[in-house]
Amino acid sequence: MAETVTVDPTASKDQTYSDLARQIAAVVEGEPDRTARMATVTSILATAFEHFFWTGFYLVDPTKGDELVVGPYQGTLGCLRIPFGKGVCGTAAQTGQTQIVGDVHAFPGHIACDARSNSEIVVPVRDAQGRLIAVLDVDSSDYNSFDETDARGLEAILAQTFAQPASIPQP
Ligand code: SME
Repeated sequence: MAETVTVDPTASKDQTYSDLARQIAAVVEGEPDRTARMATVTSILATAFEHFFWTGFYLVDPTKGDELVVGPYQGTLGCLRIPFGKGVCGTAAQTGQTQIVGDVHAFPGHIACDARSNSEIVVPVRDAQGRLIAVLDVDSSDYNSFDETDARGLEAILAQTFAQPASIPQP
């Protein structure tokens, strides 16, 4: 198991995401627990990218179906529940599409959990059957922190960790 997160400061962002994907795969290898996988992804991303000041998951609450409840995260206190359709996380959950928001203050219905948040990216998380199980929310104190490279990099990490967890023993 990798002991620390290693990031090459000279690598491109694309390369960094590939390196992190490999490190995450190595750490969660054989671990079937979804919470453990989410906590690992959160820790590795937040450690690797210093401008990620809030990094975490909002899970689809199976008892409600149309509401997110906070899961593993790193950062300041996040709100506990977000209805589908509300804010950036709720929009990602409702549409099933990654949301890149360069200025959160211009986003209708944005939920301000931490006043320092100025831009964010929210990526839907699906299981092996394609069901939406959560969204990954990353907030930055900079404006325009996230682009298509972040979207593709995060989507790849989430797919390998939650939709194609080949290393999880089958029942
Ligand atoms: N920014 C999110 C709310 C959650 S927190 O920032 C932790 C949103 O508008 O969906």
